[in-house]
Amino acid sequence: MIKKEILVVGGAGFIGSHTVVKLLNSGYRVTVLDNFSNSSRDVIDRLQYISGKIIRVVSGDIRDRFALAKLFQSAEFGCVINFAGLKSVNESLAEPLRYYDNNVAGSLVLLEVMSDHNVKKIVFSSSATVYGFPKVNPISELAPLAPLNPYGRSKLAVENILSDLYQSDPSWSIACLRYFNPVGAHKSGLIGEEPNGTPANLMPFIAQVAAGKLNQLLVFGSDYPTNDGTGVRDYIHVEDLAEGHLAALHALENPGLIKVNLGTGQGYSVLELIKTFQAVTGTKIPYKIVGRRPGDVAVCYADPSEAKRLLGWEASLDIERMCADTWRWQCLKPCGFSV
Ligand code: NAD
Ligand code: WQD
Repeated sequence: MIKKEILVVGGAGFIGSHTVVKLLNSGYRVTVLDNFSNSSRDVIDRLQYISGKIIRVVSGDIRDRFALAKLFQSAEFGCVINFAGLKSVNESLAEPLRYYDNNVAGSLVLLEVMSDHNVKKIVFSSSATVYGFPKVNPISELAPLAPLNPYGRSKLAVENILSDLYQSDPSWSIACLRYFNPVGAHKSGLIGEEPNGTPANLMPFIAQVAAGKLNQLLVFGSDYPTNDGTGVRDYIHVEDLAEGHLAALHALENPGLIKVNLGTGQGYSVLELIKTFQAVTGTKIPYKIVGRRPGDVAVCYADPSEAKRLLGWEASLDIERMCADTWRWQCLKPCGFSV
């Protein structure tokens, strides 16, 4: 049985915050360590309000070995979930060193301090970006790993570090979770995705157009080999993703190394998402079709059977629910909670 104290690194972020709620509701005690580089502290207040539970919060950076050691001396963590990471593909192309330092060096320090304190259970946030251009869809975990950018390579680097760590010491329990396209928000509308500045990702961009914060969506390409020519992705509700982390914790009760896709197994095109969002919310999304975005793949969706086999987990929330929950969150925070 995993000890009930869980350290959630990056727990104030989009996916981490939703996972913290699930952990608290499942009876775990949670400590969040976050440097708030892409989130705000008031998220913690909202998490405590939603769950009715107290969260221990430490403002710190996973690269700060001293601060981490002090934290591990103060509690007996049953497991660490590492959400801390920079996640923009474009930004990683411009600032590769910053991405390798934060994502790889940060994870390395975290793992070394965990090892020093004999904490050997970790869930790591990986990404479908490790697959690069998929040759076949749906994508299974056996697909070639060929990331196309420093961000994806930083994720694969940490996966490789974890594989080597496990080979050297099979008493570790390690889960690498490869998320596809997380979207949506908590049903309360009190937490959700809070992109800094203009969103790069499709769903938050659609939501801001629907709310009148942005004038028009640019659809990147209509000449892909898909039903309507626009890009197809595996959108997964962040609440389903959070459930996947609970399932991973159970799987880590025994030593082992697992790498699983967290996706729905269903792909939707850009135009299908626009149509669904309009139908669910009654809003209008003005858009204009332009050229392809460099680096985009045509189609990318998961074969989720391994997660079902190893974690007993599968996504259950549909695209309509993803749109409805995104819209509720957008309406409740028109200018963002942290401003
Ligand atoms: P997010 O930016 O909302 O959350 C990341 C959190 O980590 C933020 O609160 C940030 O302040 C914190 N953080 C970043 N660097 C840190 C550091 N050095 N020390 C301490 N805290 C730090 O991102 P998210 O969407 O919740 O993603 C969580 C993880 O999942 C990331 O590692 C990301 O790469 C990965 N992921 C995200 C997606 C996605 O589309 N959102 C898809 C696949 C994988
Ligand atoms: C989805 C589709 C675009 C914006 C990214 C990262 C990936 C992961 C998830 C971290 C594509 C189209 C988008 C817009 C558009 N993050 N689009 N107009 O690129 O699949 O994945 O987020 O791990 O690493 O690469 O997601 O939401 O940016 O794009 O037409 O304004 O929407 O071309 O087909 P993507 P996305």
